[in-house]
Amino acid sequence: MKKNNYKDYAAMSRAAADIVVATVKAKPNAVLGLPTGSTPIGMYAELVKDYKAGKVDFSEVTTFNLDEYIGLDTKHEQSYRRFMQEQLFDHINIKPSNTHIPSGTAKDLNKAAKEFEDLLKKSGGVDLFVLGIGTNGHIGFNEPAASMPAYTHVVGLAEETIKVNADKFFAGDMKAVPKTAVSMGLATIMKANKIILLSNGESKNDAIAKIDSQVLTLDCPATVLHMHRDVTLLIS
Ligand code: F6R
Repeated sequence: MKKNNYKDYAAMSRAAADIVVATVKAKPNAVLGLPTGSTPIGMYAELVKDYKAGKVDFSEVTTFNLDEYIGLDTKHEQSYRRFMQEQLFDHINIKPSNTHIPSGTAKDLNKAAKEFEDLLKKSGGVDLFVLGIGTNGHIGFNEPAASMPAYTHVVGLAEETIKVNADKFFAGDMKAVPKTAVSMGLATIMKANKIILLSNGESKNDAIAKIDSQVLTLDCPATVLHMHRDVTLLIS
């Protein structure tokens, strides 16, 4: 595992965008794994700039997002589909049909999760996965637990995640935050060829310290990334 420290959020976001652009240049039909949340917003803004400057072409790229809240319509202002449209997809030349986000509204969520996992497998797998990290060490919505499903699944959000996301995205209203989501599993994530994890700010220090300790524990799901051969932490 490599770790790069950046002087500020802007520098980290630029470095992350450079890695995405290099991946797409090397393989125009690359498959990208993508996160939502506050951390990747700067990276997405840099990617939009790069696209508008003619530095990168997303026309053959396919994307798979980590997760989606259950019960929010895709048009809801906090749905992850809407987030991705607004932060990235609406501003670049990616084919809408090549952008995949787990369904949080399917009648049969388990069946939809399985279909999502199968589609990802059929796509040939993720070339580059970009991750964020929760204050409790979650990646995707794989929350600290004694055990968890390996692949895309329905999951309950941890109290800490509900609180953090309420403060950041739901005007502090914990009741408004969906309590369940569909998330890729740790095994889904670990199948990627290359992984970068972005972490910004002191609230993530504990989780990063647990990764640094090189002890594997599902109490901090991100520690499993040590078992992957090509992971870089980008820290600001
Ligand atoms: C988002 C996701 C989450 C976030 C994490 C950090 O798709 O899967 O794991 O990456 O909660 O969120 P922010 O960036 O808001 O601190």
